[in-house]
Amino acid sequence: MPRRPIIAGNWKMNKTVAEAKELVNEFIPLVNGVGDVDIVLCPPATALQFVTSAVKDTNIDVGSQNVHWEDSGAFTGEIAPPMLKELGVKYAIIGHSERREYFGETDEGVNKRARAALKADIIPIICVGESLETREKGDYLGFVAGQVKAALNGFSNEEIGKLVIAYEPIWAIGTGKTATFEQAEEVCAHIRKIVADIADKSAADAIRIQYGGSVKPATIAGLMEKENVDGALVGGAALKANDFSQIVKFKG
Ligand code: 13P
Repeated sequence: MPRRPIIAGNWKMNKTVAEAKELVNEFIPLVNGVGDVDIVLCPPATALQFVTSAVKDTNIDVGSQNVHWEDSGAFTGEIAPPMLKELGVKYAIIGHSERREYFGETDEGVNKRARAALKADIIPIICVGESLETREKGDYLGFVAGQVKAALNGFSNEEIGKLVIAYEPIWAIGTGKTATFEQAEEVCAHIRKIVADIADKSAADAIRIQYGGSVKPATIAGLMEKENVDGALVGGAALKANDFSQIVKFKG
């Protein structure tokens, strides 16, 4: 079963609303007519309202960079699923390595956030990936498998098929050092195998797996040729309308 490609831009902590306006207004016409790829912009929370309204009636969707597991309550600094839903947010990045490293997010929290998101009809983009130290020690496949199993705990097989997993090796993020196409494929294929083991073949066939880490216009086509790479989660190159549009139009 062919999976629909999904290219998402994670702006991280970049772009004021004024800057978001410039970027989005430049980007929309550049990808006009691209119909065979899911295109997702993930701005900071302050720009979600602007971006969701700006891309309404276009081929572009919006994702948040995080989401909490409760619908409301005393959780200072967090954003609840219904708040995102109200704005028309369709996806939520969950468990990015920067959240795990700097803000103490755990596998258990990632699972709770992902379950709450999907319950609210927001598609989780669950991030996994090993550090350079883990890669050099050798058991990076086991490490990533552990993150995937923890994140998917408690989902039904049907739900698992709706998710997006982003494999982002930490050593490739913001370093300019993209994983080779073969390195990306090796881990993405392993993730699909883990999904087949813990769920079933139809979930494994349906789930979309992105690669992330220094993706550039020059590297996207080679990545997308790989059987188990269904898309990309793009950081730095998503901050430039022209670069990101070239990545979205990887088919040429
Ligand atoms: P870069 O594309 O800047 O390496 O960032 C990748 C990333 O972390 C996307 O979530």
